[in-house]
Amino acid sequence: MHANIVRDQCIPTSEEGIKALFDDFVLSTYGRFPLTLQRGKGSHVWDVNGRRYLDMGGGIAVNVLGHAHPELVETLSEQASTLMHCSNLYYQRWQGELARELVHRIGNGKCFFANSGAEANEGMFKLARKFGSEEGRFEILSCQNSFHGRTMAGIAATGQPKVKEGFAPMVPGFRHVPFNDLEAVEKAISPATVAILLEGVQGEGGILPASPEYLKGLRALCDQHDLLMLWDGIQCGHYRTGYLHSYASILSDDPQCADFVPDAISMAKSLGGGFPLGAFWVRERYQDILGAGTHGSTFGGNPLACSVALKILEIIKRDSLDKNAVQMGGMLMHGLRILAAKFPDYIQDVRGLGLMIGLVFHPRASVGDHVARPVSLQIVECLHAHGMLTIPSGTQVVRFLPGLNILPSEVEEALSLLNTTLESIEI
Ligand SMILES: Cc1ncc(COP(=O)(O)O)c(C=O)c1O
Repeated sequence: MHANIVRDQCIPTSEEGIKALFDDFVLSTYGRFPLTLQRGKGSHVWDVNGRRYLDMGGGIAVNVLGHAHPELVETLSEQASTLMHCSNLYYQRWQGELARELVHRIGNGKCFFANSGAEANEGMFKLARKFGSEEGRFEILSCQNSFHGRTMAGIAATGQPKVKEGFAPMVPGFRHVPFNDLEAVEKAISPATVAILLEGVQGEGGILPASPEYLKGLRALCDQHDLLMLWDGIQCGHYRTGYLHSYASILSDDPQCADFVPDAISMAKSLGGGFPLGAFWVRERYQDILGAGTHGSTFGGNPLACSVALKILEIIKRDSLDKNAVQMGGMLMHGLRILAAKFPDYIQDVRGLGLMIGLVFHPRASVGDHVARPVSLQIVECLHAHGMLTIPSGTQVVRFLPGLNILPSEVEEALSLLNTTLESIEI
């Protein structure tokens, strides 16, 4: 009998059996770690062998309230038994309420709902194209080292050549400028430019925050040249840095910037806390650009997704998780800096905002397996062996993006696991 047929017929429970299903039936677009997860609770997950891990990666900034949060479970099941999906041909309460909640927290304007980050960004690109269409303006300036998703426009917008390889020709109309370099943006603006796109903290690029001067300067340039400021808040948003969106954290020391707001903001990841949901908010001045028939989504903003998102926002507010993100982020950052001083041969830098932290390793550091693999992957794997999940970013950075309800004892656990791991490896 063909091996595939055998695999078709059994219910896989072992690590090997589950991996075999992926080998046979799932496109190999991901470099997966040899870990097979089974369940989660709070900040911990368990693999199929019953081994427990502290989840400091949060599903790449998605599990904003950790795993299996009882109130989210209740909301999901109640909503599923009330109205799970209804088409955007009709009205339903939950999408309207979520839009109102986001508008109240961001500023006057309106929202559109999609299912993922890349889709939320696509919507913003369409907004920009439509905005400039009558004047023949279409070009979006994006930043080098940025990441904006894996759709065709997403990879064109992304400032990392590796995501574009083999997919030429790119969607036209994107040009890249160095991040945090205002002069470069000013020079790059052409008669065709219609928008500037950026992440407040570059996530996939290695946890690099924008500077306050850069943000203020970009806002002024956008106003001066009638450009839209498009804010990708997908990874750095949702109170991860202490405010709903990271521009408020970056500009928090400047009272003159209290009213700072981009022209559109994309959201996803933590917005649904594990339930797929994306959205973009559009500032009041531009809220009528995308009219009836110009954009749409079958699933976008369905009752199930929106009711979960509303519950998450309610819990973040009720439990002051914005403040917890800042406090726990500070505690983690402090501990990581102590470890950086203890292991100077490994750790080059610690950077980030709130609970979005990157530990930068020396490119020459190696765990001693002598395999020519980036140090970020080697460290992440060693941490798995010691019972902790983190997220690699590029070749040198290990990211910490845990749930915003992480406890002080769990931050201590993370620091202790990292310490033990670094003590156990040799350069
Ligand atoms: C800043 C940013 N934008 C866009 C995306 C794409 O989101 P999604 O994977 O949900 O399409 C990501 C995902 O990592 C991201 O970090």
